[in-house]
Amino acid sequence: MDSQTDRPLPRSWKIAGIAAFGICIGVVAVWAFVALGAYDVAADVPHTRLVYWWMTEVRDRSVAVRARDVQVPSDLGAPKRISTGAGLYNEMCSGCHLAPGMKKTEISQGLYPSAPELSCGTDLTPGEEFWVVKHGIKMSGMAAWGKTHNDTLIWDMVAFVRKLPTLSPTQYQAVVKSAPGDHDEMMNMQNMDHGGH
Ligand code: HEC
Repeated sequence: MDSQTDRPLPRSWKIAGIAAFGICIGVVAVWAFVALGAYDVAADVPHTRLVYWWMTEVRDRSVAVRARDVQVPSDLGAPKRISTGAGLYNEMCSGCHLAPGMKKTEISQGLYPSAPELSCGTDLTPGEEFWVVKHGIKMSGMAAWGKTHNDTLIWDMVAFVRKLPTLSPTQYQAVVKSAPGDHDEMMNMQNMDHGGH
């Protein structure tokens, strides 16, 4: 009996013990970090570089993977789409994303992550833009417009967002004026055409 208990522990047990201890320390450290409120969630204090990089990577990959199967309509350049999109953009998006000739708004200056100025263009494909506008982005100001707008209207906005970088302030005003009626009218017109998805 004695000779058995005196035998040294196998090496693999020792390693497992050290690993389990390490994991416990890790869990306690993470818990303490959260419980002590160590991370500053203030929107006026930037993320550390590592957190910023990690969150950007998570966002970009999440959008790219989910937007892979989005079918892009062939008529994104259609003037009717662009003018409807312009009306919606001016009303719902320009407060955060600004527009040609527009001064910075208070909300656009306070958002973190900041809302990109869409008149400078994006790196996204049309399918990715559609996905972001429809579903929004968690823990940023970007809302899921698909809760209240059908796919047709969202494609109209994407059509306009892709046109936006080519517009001067005067052209921007002109295309916004060309939008069909007010918001409710645009919603009703489109709801008769297609159902939302
Ligand atoms: C309350 C502010 C706010 C409003 C209003 C808003 N957005 Fe955004 N949007 C954001 C923020 C913030 C981001 C960046 C999110 C991030 O980086 O995680 C964003 C991201 C985007 C992107 C992705 C851009 C890129 O390059 O990654 C698109 C496209 C976009 N918004 C389109 C729209 C459209 C179209 C509307 C109007 C229907 C709209 N947004 C309304 C705040 C807003």
